[in-house]
Amino acid sequence: MPADVWRAACWLMLVLGCWSLSSSSEATGRRRRLSREPGGISFEYHRYRELREALVSVWLQCPSISRLYTAGQSYEGRLLLVIEISDNPGQHEPGEPEFKYVGNMHGNEAVGRELLIYLAQYLCNEYQKGNETIVNLIHSTRIHIMPSLNPDGFEKAAQQPGDMKDWFVGRSNAQGIDLNRNFPDLDRIVYINEKEGGTNNHLLQNMKKSVYQNTKLAPETRAIINWIMDIPFVLSANLHGGDLVANYPYDKTRSGSAHEYSACPDDNIFQSLARAYSSFNPAMSDPNRQSCRKNDDDTSFVDGTTNGAAWYSVPGGMQDFNYLSSNCFEITVELSCDKFPPEEMLKTYWEQNKDSLVNYIEQVHRGIKGFVKDHQGNPIANATISVDGIDHDITSAKDGDYWRLLAPGNYKITASASGYLAITKKVAVPYSPAVKIDFDLESLSERKEEEKEQLIEWWKMMSQTLNF
Ligand SMILES: *[C@@H]1O[C@H](CO)[C@@H](O)[C@H](O)[C@H]1NC(C)=O
Ligand SMILES: *[C@@H]1O[C@H](CO)[C@@H](O)[C@H](O)[C@H]1NC(C)=O
Ligand SMILES: [Zn+2]
Repeated sequence: MPADVWRAACWLMLVLGCWSLSSSSEATGRRRRLSREPGGISFEYHRYRELREALVSVWLQCPSISRLYTAGQSYEGRLLLVIEISDNPGQHEPGEPEFKYVGNMHGNEAVGRELLIYLAQYLCNEYQKGNETIVNLIHSTRIHIMPSLNPDGFEKAAQQPGDMKDWFVGRSNAQGIDLNRNFPDLDRIVYINEKEGGTNNHLLQNMKKSVYQNTKLAPETRAIINWIMDIPFVLSANLHGGDLVANYPYDKTRSGSAHEYSACPDDNIFQSLARAYSSFNPAMSDPNRQSCRKNDDDTSFVDGTTNGAAWYSVPGGMQDFNYLSSNCFEITVELSCDKFPPEEMLKTYWEQNKDSLVNYIEQVHRGIKGFVKDHQGNPIANATISVDGIDHDITSAKDGDYWRLLAPGNYKITASASGYLAITKKVAVPYSPAVKIDFDLESLSERKEEEKEQLIEWWKMMSQTLNF
């Protein structure tokens, strides 16, 4: 117990105590925020120090369902803070899916950063009030919220005086790297594999390190890649600004042209996931909505959603990296025409997005899920779950648990693992909740033993019959 208290105190000092990083301009005239009512949501911009304070205050208010941790550091040394909301903070519970939100990877796209702070506060408040929807969600899901992947860029954007911010200042990280173009370009590899034969998933696994280490990875990108590889995320959204649409894979065109619908093998479920976000946001899904700017080409938008590459081609983006390197399905949400709107607008954005943000997390409970085990009941990690007709496999996590997002329909699902006999099952998948299907695989060595015994039996019988 004393060790725990000590650790918590150290954390607080780490999170709150790095005053050296907060520039003097950051501190002036913004003390009003500290007078926030406990449990209230303050619809204001949060500079780096205020972001840390806001997350710590959620943690202090809801310590039994939250945990603060950092996924790494920015180039200038700011923490990439994550608040985890879960009934068992700090632990992966076997069978429970993991979800993440990432905001502000473009430092000047500020709305997502703020909405994620409000979301953390909202989940904590509603949990304490006993809101059944939120209590059930937190009990059945491990939710990770990273309000800012680019805290350096945000500070740069926020330092500009007045309400009118430049369209580009603060977009990149402190090294001038656009983080959403900085991921290993796995689309290029998957498009080659489609032609020449090759896998469509977990592409980093069998790739020579040099192939992706040639990319100059920003520390923020590297941190996210490690995070994606470490945690068995199932679903994610990446929040941006500058337009109003929910964008799904692929983001890069197959042909190299500037715009072209580029469906991934999971196009059906991705369309459905994007709609699950847009349909709860009245502005995003409004069929009569004007384009953000007069000359914008948003002919690819359907019900507030778009295939990424149909809108415009993005190589090296985070969304497709998630899908092609891990089990995590990610969409990219553009939250606002304005990238850094006046502070008075933040409450409106929260109201437009609150239901979408919660509803989207709930999508993690769709498709099928279960465990892959051997005949002795031991978990089989890294087993392959494949779906007939969809060329994209999912793998089981450490405890043999797996989650496979699927649109409604009838499917044939096969679980396989090296050294085991594969099993195929048929399943009818509704919109939700996820259907539970477990697989008990027989090991080949077990099978060989059985066969040997059968052979010996047969031999005994034969020898008795033939009398030799
Ligand atoms: C409980 O939370 C859900 C999801 O955010 C929300 O739609 C609902 O209005 C809340 N219920 C109450 C009584 O506030
Ligand atoms: C998982 O299995 C695949 C083959 O199905 C293999 O290539 C890969 O190295 C395995 N990964 C781990 C982490 O064991
Ligand atoms: Zn962006």
